[in-house]
Parts: sequence; C-alpha cells; structure tokens
Amino acid sequence: MPQLSTRNLLGIKDLTPKDITLILETADHFKEVLSRPIKKVPSLRDITIANIFFENSTRTRLSFELAEKRLSADTMSFSASGSSVKKGETLLDTVNNILAMKVDMIVMRHSSVGAPHFLSKHIPARIVNAGDGTHEHPTQALLDSFSIRERLGEVGGKKVAIIGDISHSRVALSNIFALQKQGAEVAVCGPLTLIPKYLHKLGVKVFSNIQKTLEWCDVANVLRIQLERQTSRNFPSLREYALYFGINRERLEKLDKQIVVMHPGPINRGVELTSDVADSEHAIILDQVENGVAVRMAVLYLLAQQIR
Ligand code: CP
Repeated sequence: MPQLSTRNLLGIKDLTPKDITLILETADHFKEVLSRPIKKVPSLRDITIANIFFENSTRTRLSFELAEKRLSADTMSFSASGSSVKKGETLLDTVNNILAMKVDMIVMRHSSVGAPHFLSKHIPARIVNAGDGTHEHPTQALLDSFSIRERLGEVGGKKVAIIGDISHSRVALSNIFALQKQGAEVAVCGPLTLIPKYLHKLGVKVFSNIQKTLEWCDVANVLRIQLERQTSRNFPSLREYALYFGINRERLEKLDKQIVVMHPGPINRGVELTSDVADSEHAIILDQVENGVAVRMAVLYLLAQQIR
C-alpha cells in the first residue's frame, strides 16, 4: 500500500508531488464515504488523537474533529484558554502531559511560526499542523487543491491568483507550494505592503492591479485581511482596500470568462469579497469547507498507517 514520505504533516514544503496525489486520491475515497447514509468507517478505531488549539478556529477545528469521528478515532480537544497554559505551563510540558494519556497523534494550531516543527523534534506522536502563525496551513492548501481539481478537473496547468494579505497568511505559502508542486502557475495580488519581498524567488508572479489579475487567472483564492496580525498600517483604510482590491460582481462581469472564486474563511464581507460574489455561482467557498473533512480524513488515515 502506498505511504506518505513524511511521518508528520508539518507543511506542504516537506511533501513530494506523489504525497499530494496520494492524499487527494485518498480523499476522493473518503468523499464517497461521506456521501453514504452511514458516513463512518472503522479505519482509526485503535487510534487516539488530541486536537490542541492555542489560537481561535471554527472551520479547521470542527473539520478535524468530524474527520476523526468519521474514522472512528478516540478524540480529545484542548483549548489554551481555560487550560493550565494560563498558569505558565510550557508547550512541551502541556503536550507531554497529554501524551502520557496514551495519545497517538496531535493536531495543533499555534500562533508561533515553527511550533509544530519544534514539537516534532521532542515527541514520538505524529503531528498535523493545523496552522502555525503566518507560516503554513497545509490541510487548507490540500483542501483548496482538492476543490480546484473537483471544479476544473485538474490543478496542473491552471492559473491561480492568491489575492489579499499575503504577508500575514499561512494559507498563501502552503498554497504556493501545493499548487507549484502540482504544475499550476501562481500569482499574488494585493497592496505591495502586504506582499513579502522574497516571493519572486519562489517563482510567483506579482500583480498590483486587481482587474489584470482576474483577467489572468482561472481561480482567484481570496484571503482575509488579518488586522489582528498587522503591527503597522499597511493601507489607509478597509474602505480603500475594498475599493482597490475587493472582488465585486462588476469586476467579474467585465471578464470575458468565468473564474472560480475561493476563500479559506472567515470572510470579511464587503472587504475582500462582496456578498453578491461570496454567495454566487462563481464561489466554491462552502465546497472547500465540505471537502476539508474528506481531505483531513485522508491525512489522518495515511499518517496512522505508519504507526501500525
Ligand atoms: N480556514 C481556516 O483556517 O479557518 P478557521 O480559522 O476558522 O479554522
């Protein structure tokens, strides 16, 4: 049976194109399972997974929890707020105490870049990175690729524009790696103050005009403006951002083609996207959320195969 080349999922950077194909094809199988009247399989009934979230989440946390339940794993969930982290316990002590309860896998979101990479050097359990600061969010990029492939048939050869706050986004970097490894062309667009200077070294096209970006791309993956991570003013106001970079119906109607609009959520309606685009036939935002469960089932299943 094919196996992943990595023992943890810390980032897309570590995956081979073959790993990505294996995850997406395994997710195809689990998507079929999720369409059955009984949406549950016994695949992980001997595995215990702890979801440890040191940062807020709606989609990722619930999606992992549901994926684990659908695979019949035993699960426990931990939030930093309301835990002994607030009394000064270190990350490693917290995790070692959780592992003492015979946990096999950790799904972790943390505000610090590299937190899951650090843990992976100190603990025996398998780790899935559910987002580390502004660095990587690998399962989001995998579910984004799954959703593009579902809508357009394949990812290879497609032109994907990532639009918005690239500097503060872990979704951007994971998507750049995932899309390029599958043979897609990638561009970014946003205020130049929100685009890291190193991006051209990754072979990414940089646009600053939204209409030209939409004309170029097959898929627009629109990111949230992360005001909570911005330590300085990167643009004058949200109103001005929406005026120059927001995607509205008028901008889409000027195109001589249909493009696919994606957003990892949560959306700032009226800033990155107007509601008439977010809720339109162009948008696959809720498909992304639906596909997240099958993709996370695939990741957990494939990592668990290596434990047995
Ligand atoms: N896309 C995403 O990571 O959303 P949450 O922050 O709600 O998990």
